[in-house]
This record gives sequence, C-alpha cells and structure tokens, in this order.
Amino acid sequence: MPDTATPQDFTRLLAEYDLALARMQRSHDQLLGKVAELQGELQRKNDLLAHQSRMAMLGEIAAGVAHEIRNPLGGIRLYLDLLEREVKAQGSPTIGKIRGVVARLDRVVRDVLTHSRELHADCQPQALMNVVMEAVGLASLELTGSDVALAVDCAEGTAALDHDLVVRLLLNLVLNAAQAIQQRDDGREGGRVMVRSGRDANGSYFAVEDDGPGIPAEQMQRLFTPFFSKKEGGTGLGLALCRRIAEAHRGELRAANRPEGGARFELRLP
Ligand SMILES: Nc1ncnc2c1ncn2[C@@H]1O[C@H](COP(=O)(O)OP(=O)(O)O)[C@@H](O)[C@H]1O
Ligand SMILES: [Mg+2]
Repeated sequence: MPDTATPQDFTRLLAEYDLALARMQRSHDQLLGKVAELQGELQRKNDLLAHQSRMAMLGEIAAGVAHEIRNPLGGIRLYLDLLEREVKAQGSPTIGKIRGVVARLDRVVRDVLTHSRELHADCQPQALMNVVMEAVGLASLELTGSDVALAVDCAEGTAALDHDLVVRLLLNLVLNAAQAIQQRDDGREGGRVMVRSGRDANGSYFAVEDDGPGIPAEQMQRLFTPFFSKKEGGTGLGLALCRRIAEAHRGELRAANRPEGGARFELRLP
C-alpha cells in the first residue's frame, strides 16, 4: 500500500463515497416509506379497536334495554289474558292483533339478548317434521290476516339438532320471507312461502323459499351482518342470529336467489 494517495485514489474514494451516500439515501427513503405504512396500519388498527369497543358498548346497552323491556312485555301478555276474560271475548281480533305485536317485540328482545351471550346447541335426535310444523305454526300465528300462504314439503326422518334453536331459525326465515313478499311493489297481491326439509347424501337440510322480490346482488354479502336491515323497524339481527344458530350446529346457512324469482335460504346440518 503506497503511503501517498494519488489523484486516482481520490477520485475512486469520492465515487465510492457517492455510491454509499446514494445507498443510504435509498434505505432512508425505504425506511420513511415503511414508517408511513406502519403509521397507516396503526391508524387502521386503532380505528378498528375503537369501532369494536363502541360496538361492544352498544351491545351491552342493547342487552340492558332488552332486559328492561322483557318484564313489562310479560305484564302486557298477562293483562291481555285478563282483558279477554273481562270482556268475555274469546279470540277477539283486536286482542289477537295486540298479541301479535307483543310476540314481535318479544322476539326482538330475545334476539338482542341471544346476541349478547354465547350460543350453545343442545343436539338431540328430532323428527324433521316436528321442527318444521312448530315453526310454521308459530309463523302462521303472526301472519293471521295476511295474504301470504305457507306450504310445507317435508320428508320423514330425524336429525340431531337443538329443537328450540332450529325452530327459531326457521321462524325468522319464514317471517323474513313473508315480509319480503309484502314489501314487493310489482302490484301482485300476496304470495307463498315454502318450507322444505329432508335428508340426502350430505346430511339433513331445511330450506325456506319465497316468491318475493329476491335479494339484490349488492346485499348478498351483508345479509348476515348484525344490524344490516333494509326494513322499516327492522333490527337486522334475525339473519345474524340464524347464522350463529347454524354455526352452533356446525352447519351452514346460505342465501340465494331462485331462478324462477324470490329468495331461498338453506340450512345444512352435518
Ligand atoms: N326472503 C328474503 N327476500 C329478500 N330479502 C330478504 C329476505 N330475507 C332477508 N332479506 C333482507 O335481509 C335483511 C336482513 O334481515 P334480518 O337480519 O332478518 O333483519 P330484519 O328482518 O330485522 O331486517 C332484511 O332487511 C332484508 O333486506
Ligand atoms: Mg328478520
């Protein structure tokens, strides 16, 4: 190694220094980019966390309100029984209507409460027909006086399921179907809801079909999200709850439009 630097050495050194500087500038820019990216991610995570804690708080408030509403509702039912006896009006249409409204409120309250706790399915062998008939019976109570006809096509057979939960799921689906039919604005009066059940190679299924307006494509993905509702006075909890009931059975709940028009919801049990 010479002990005196030549001008060439100096030029080479300068070039190397320039290169190193350029490399440092590049990694500095990359770092800045990375920092900006991480800051963005942090912001998104913070927003999500804030949103989740807001939702959790809302859930708690909703559950509290639902609890408060539950007792007076029981009271109203009791007073209706008394009223019916007092006016000796067995099967009075007005009292029947009030009962229908009370039943609806009761369901909203139950849906909110069920949403705020863990859902466990207590599965026992059940006749498919019993489950379907109970749901259809409850639905027809609420559809008295409407021009929606209910039909059943149910095969014999049993499946392991939680009777009450699946009845609730079907009731939700049938009432949604009836409401969709009633909201139709093509001038047609009334419609039909078909409840099917059976077994095939893949397990058992329950399906609810209607001849309503069907589901708009842009809603398909969001139907099952809690609080998604296109209905005046809807809670948007029905389908979210139905999906949780399906999952508690390790089953699946899917929505589709029928080629002949209207919607079809299918619950598949393993
Ligand atoms: N059978 C159906 N036909 C068309 N749209 C439906 C049907 N069932 C549900 N939907 C749509 O899904 C939305 C969410 O339903 P749901 O979760 O039960 O809440 P809600 O009934 O309180 O609106 C409804 O508001 C409606 O827009
Ligand atoms: Mg509903």
